[in-house]
Amino acid sequence: MIGRLNHVAIAVPDLEAAAEQYRTTLGANVGAPQDEPDHGVTVVFIELPKTQIELLYPLGDDSPINGFLAKNPSGGIHHMCYEVDDILAARDQLKADGARVLGTGEPKIGAHGKPVLFLHPKDFNGCLIELEQV
Ligand code: CO
Repeated sequence: MIGRLNHVAIAVPDLEAAAEQYRTTLGANVGAPQDEPDHGVTVVFIELPKTQIELLYPLGDDSPINGFLAKNPSGGIHHMCYEVDDILAARDQLKADGARVLGTGEPKIGAHGKPVLFLHPKDFNGCLIELEQV
């Protein structure tokens, strides 16, 4: 069902400093910050040859990233995003297997303008999983 690793997301306490570290210290190709109000985050994508890193920073007081950074003040890996061909078919199969889909269970539009869903980390070895239809 899952295809390519689309990105690994890292929640960061200082988006500008993290982007600059990837640009200079790690020598990566770093994109511009984008606000994603539907998800309560500001994101910066870092292009790597086979995947991307998504730097996540809270946008707004009820951002889901606020709690994560409160528990992980220096930041940390937040989720992995896998590509799927058909997000509704993937969702239905996962739900039939007992996995919990976060939120309403309906896909939202993600940072790449494509439908995404998140799966409960307790059902996947402590790892929050994002599925993105490509
Ligand atoms: Co993501």
